[in-house]
Amino acid sequence: MRYFKKIVGERLYLSPINMEDVEKFTEWVNDLEVTINLVLSPYIFSLEKEREALEGLCNEGYTFSIITLDNDELIGNCGLLNVNLINRTAEAGIFIGNKEYWNRGYGTEAMNLLLDYAFNLLNMNSIFLRVHSFNKRAIKCYKKCGFKEIGIRREAYLVGDKKYDQIYMDILASEFKGKIPDLIK
Ligand SMILES: CC(C)(COP(=O)(O)OP(=O)(O)OC[C@H]1O[C@@H](n2cnc3c(N)ncnc32)[C@H](O)[C@@H]1OP(=O)(O)O)[C@@H](O)C(=O)NCCC(=O)NCCS
Repeated sequence: MRYFKKIVGERLYLSPINMEDVEKFTEWVNDLEVTINLVLSPYIFSLEKEREALEGLCNEGYTFSIITLDNDELIGNCGLLNVNLINRTAEAGIFIGNKEYWNRGYGTEAMNLLLDYAFNLLNMNSIFLRVHSFNKRAIKCYKKCGFKEIGIRREAYLVGDKKYDQIYMDILASEFKGKIPDLIK
């Protein structure tokens, strides 16, 4: 079996990463149309380097692959970084590498599943993220999940002769209602 249904939604589930997907991830992290939206854009990822990165994420244990429920297709990944178990804070990250799936609600569903995991199983209290100011699709997606803008870091992302702000957003456990608690009957 390639994927495992850890957190299940309507059209997607979150699965542990399968290292056999390293080639697909390497394709995506070298695709500038995807990574210009992330902090990865200047970096060159060989297959080996991406394998190391994926292994690191697997070992940290807070990153999932995003898989479609109808045909078990890998479309991206999402996860938590900087998990702080004392203050119950973490930073969320997501990317859908398969561009055919953009703008169809999959990002919103995957982020909601990640938040359900973060708030209802890891017992996080505050999830934070950063997004480039030009990434309107991501900002809209995060707002649909309940994230609020909490600040702006000015001119933190430079591309060519343009300087873009970075928008900071967060959501609290008290602002999110997930489905995982309903599994207990
Ligand atoms: C960001 C990302 C996860 C969002 O997932 P998605 O499935 O494409 O987003 P959704 O369809 O759930 O929501 C996007 C919303 O933004 C809207 N949108 C798209 N382009 C927009 C634009 N230029 N301006 C305003 N809204 C826009 C969509 O219409 C949709 O809103 P709607 O559902 O009300 O119609 C995904 O596009 C992605 O991975 N992109 C590349 C990497 C990336 O940007 N990662 C995030 C880095 S912070």
